[in-house]
Amino acid sequence: MYCWPVSGLGEIPWELLRSTARTATTKSYAPYSRVTVGAAGYTSDGRVVVGSNVENASYGLTLCAECSLVSDLAREGGGRLAAVAVVAGDGAPLAPCGRCRQLLYEHGGADLLIDDGADRPARRLGELLPEAFGPNDLGTRSNS
Ligand code: THU
Repeated sequence: MYCWPVSGLGEIPWELLRSTARTATTKSYAPYSRVTVGAAGYTSDGRVVVGSNVENASYGLTLCAECSLVSDLAREGGGRLAAVAVVAGDGAPLAPCGRCRQLLYEHGGADLLIDDGADRPARRLGELLPEAFGPNDLGTRSNS
């Protein structure tokens, strides 16, 4: 595991995240779509977590790279995500699908930064998933 403590958002190692995500595409299991995807996340305490997509013969059961990343986060001790880069096998950024935006929201919230490539500013997850339903809504909306 990498460890690279960060004290401010300007210190997020975007190139490390992009290259780690690119490398993770080589671990994808994508025999059906042939779209290999890698994801790398940076935690608020300076750890890098990684994921690759894993497809299934029952297509709808496919696990996205971000899903794999969230599992890695839990396996590595949990914590909050500060930044995430997702790339396809061609090395270009890939916008997280809707389900994955929700998965990432749970672990990074609206301030989680999503890479959009070296030439564009990162976007807040709150921009990609506005008015998200999250953990705080459970307590306030419960009937009991
Ligand atoms: N995929 C991801 O890994 N993440 C996304 O956010 C979008 C799509 C994968 C799932 C599937 O294996 C392939 O890309 C084509 O949909």
